[in-house]
Amino acid sequence: MVELNSQALFDRAKRVMPGGVNSPVRACTAVGRIPRFISRADGDRIVDVDGNEYIDYVCSWGPGILGHAHPKVLEAVKKACDEGLTYGAPTAREVEMAELIRELVPSMEVSRMVSSGTEAVMSAVRVARGFTGRDDILKFEGCYHGHSDGLLVKAGSGLLTGSVPTSAGVPEDYAQHTIVVPYNDIEAVRQVFAERGQTLAAVVVEPVAANMGVVLPKPGFLEFLREITLKYGTLLIFDEVITGFRLGLSGAQTPGSVPKTSGSVPKISGSVPKTSTSLKCSNNSPVIPDLTTLGKIVGGGMPAAVYGGREEIMRQVAPDGKVYQAGTLSGNPIATAAGLATLKLLKSDPDIYARLEAKTRRLAETIRTASKGRTVVTQIASLMSVDFPQDLALSKPQTNQILKNSSHSPDLRFAAWYNHLLSHGVYVAPSRFEAMFVSDAHTDEDIARTCEVAASFFAVG
Ligand SMILES: Cc1ncc(COP(=O)(O)O)c(C=O)c1O
Repeated sequence: MVELNSQALFDRAKRVMPGGVNSPVRACTAVGRIPRFISRADGDRIVDVDGNEYIDYVCSWGPGILGHAHPKVLEAVKKACDEGLTYGAPTAREVEMAELIRELVPSMEVSRMVSSGTEAVMSAVRVARGFTGRDDILKFEGCYHGHSDGLLVKAGSGLLTGSVPTSAGVPEDYAQHTIVVPYNDIEAVRQVFAERGQTLAAVVVEPVAANMGVVLPKPGFLEFLREITLKYGTLLIFDEVITGFRLGLSGAQTPGSVPKTSGSVPKISGSVPKTSTSLKCSNNSPVIPDLTTLGKIVGGGMPAAVYGGREEIMRQVAPDGKVYQAGTLSGNPIATAAGLATLKLLKSDPDIYARLEAKTRRLAETIRTASKGRTVVTQIASLMSVDFPQDLALSKPQTNQILKNSSHSPDLRFAAWYNHLLSHGVYVAPSRFEAMFVSDAHTDEDIARTCEVAASFFAVG
């Protein structure tokens, strides 16, 4: 009989798949373990093939805002399956999806469905280049926008020159068109625009960064990006693959969802051109980008993503315009059904975001308090991260053996945290840089249990 446990499956997988996985972080290398192979999931629980059950805070890396296998989403998917899996032709549900997206995220006047967040951001960048006739883009260190060539790039030695690929196989020439500056660094952005503003097609940013742990935009940062991009005729792209429908029904474009400026938006000298004044921000309104990318939640657990924005920009896309972008499975009927069911459930429940926030805040506050200043816990809406910076850990008397040893790196501390949680039935992402996601299916009891397990990590001698 073929053995069905995680170790046996991983051994087989490694022989036939790179690292034994279909996406690198799943390999769990950073925490010194083998991956759990999952057999099923329901609500806030995930079960591995070895029969262990965990409270799940990965939620498939973000899509699972309603928890696993929500009955209404499953019903929509099963019904769609009965009608055939894919046609490669338009369907009513795709129209409904584009209309619902425009209703929920009004800046997405016209949108296009694709199958992954990577595709959505890659396509939005191409549209920005086609619309502006410019080649360069500006992105931020630590933000992840999928694995398309021009976005797998980090800063080189100088601010304006020498960006370097972060992956083998990405031509250096591609990297030259992507300028990378630190997140929240207004001065660096200002400098890049002063030198290269006329060549910049787009600034692409996670409005709340969630791929280097969770990092909030400094008050005024997004407002500054909006103002300076308007000044230079550069498009502002919000990558809301994580924040979309997570920070609120309109993602980071939900009023009040992102920390606001205290009233001092950094001043831009010179006149602001007449590009769509409706996009200019005031202190009472969220920052509105020209283009937005959505993924994860919009697919309701199936492979769907969307990019869209101002009509005049999106009309550049074929067949209306000359920017080519296509997909055999784009707007797939099953994925669209899952996404629509998810969005409708979110829309129909006026309290859902308050509930999600309250549960996540409780978890974040418990960990913050229990760790007595030895962690950095960042939380916004139902998104949070826990990190173990070395300098913080060293400044406090330690009880935990791992935290006590000053030679232990933040990575090692995180690995100990991860292994403690996993061995007590709590499943989080196996990397310091990935967020924790709370779903509507997380029960108060499971949040309480997680708080207990988390607190016990800091108490062990
Ligand atoms: C902000 C952001 N953009 C884009 C992507 C890429 O999405 P996908 O993995 O669906 O290609 C991710 C994936 O985690 C993401 O977090």
